[in-house]
Amino acid sequence: MSEMKITRHLAPDASGFASAGEFLRAGGLVAFPTETVYGLGADATNGLAVAGIYAAKGRPSFNPLIVHVAALEQALTLADFNADALRLAKAFWPGPLTIVVPRRADCPVSELALAGLDSIALRIPSAPEALALLKAADRPIAAPSANRSGRVSPTTPDHVLEDLDGLIDAVVMGPSAEIGVESTIVSCLVHPPVMLRPGGLAREAIEAKLGCRLADPAVSEGDHAAPLAPGMLLSHYAPRAKVRLNVHTIEEGEAALLFGSASMTGTERSVATLNLSPSGDLAEAAAALFGALRTLDASGASSIAVAPIPAYGLGEAINDRLHRAAAPRN
Ligand code: TXA
Ligand code: MG
Repeated sequence: MSEMKITRHLAPDASGFASAGEFLRAGGLVAFPTETVYGLGADATNGLAVAGIYAAKGRPSFNPLIVHVAALEQALTLADFNADALRLAKAFWPGPLTIVVPRRADCPVSELALAGLDSIALRIPSAPEALALLKAADRPIAAPSANRSGRVSPTTPDHVLEDLDGLIDAVVMGPSAEIGVESTIVSCLVHPPVMLRPGGLAREAIEAKLGCRLADPAVSEGDHAAPLAPGMLLSHYAPRAKVRLNVHTIEEGEAALLFGSASMTGTERSVATLNLSPSGDLAEAAAALFGALRTLDASGASSIAVAPIPAYGLGEAINDRLHRAAAPRN
């Protein structure tokens, strides 16, 4: 366990970003807003700083981390982009897409951040606060979600402080994450590219831009010894309460998580009830998801009963996170 620190609250302004940049260049840990979720950033080229991420998160193992950069030219100094990767980067960066590409031989990112892989997962976030922080840091920043391992990803600075106050150097006190689920991860190591993690950019948009269907990891590289997206532990997004999916009838002691206009039978006996999007808007639901799980968890309910959510568009990422939250705990 690392020693306790004073966690500074940095305003999302010029002096706050300058301090964030100083902390990061000195090997410190700074949580910051992105459009997907809050990230816990460290200098990706500094192995000791990256080790601090794992310590603060209490991660059981060293998963490769997403490396964030401010511009495509910077990404091109770290990795080799083939035609698919360039097309996706030009279409969707900055934005909620992470692209896995072969790292260059002279890539300065630490082996720990890459978990020893020959490939690197890169992303340019679109939140202006994230871009300002990356420019101030002036180097690639490794950043997983800013939560303790196994907990729900943070979408506000308060969520970050609930988990990491005293364990990290600073938090940029920005707005709520606009998208609310992590970036979509696409591997361009093979053609057609493989969707490793559904996320804030819908599969349909990526396939339209590529002009081909994305492959499924199990089918294309199923016999790899290491999982393709090793961070995808099944019980990953876990509230303390149990989570029950596709619920039509609520049971005693449960909290209800609704979507759209469909109601659940028995909501009058629910401990607490929230609707991810009364109008049935999947983007609104994604943005509300992690905060709603936290709120219903805090209601003391033994279990959270979740209504069916459509499987298309951002619904793919929402259902993925909900299945992880519902998976048996280890
Ligand atoms: O939205 C997001 O992507 C957030 C924000 C903070 O940007 N970040 C995030 O990072 O979710 P992280 O570190 O929690 O997600 C890392 C994921 C893991 O599933 C990991 O296995 C995968 O990226 N990954 C990283 N490098 C990889 C590589 N070379 N090949 C395959 N998967 C990789
Ligand atoms: Mg995470």
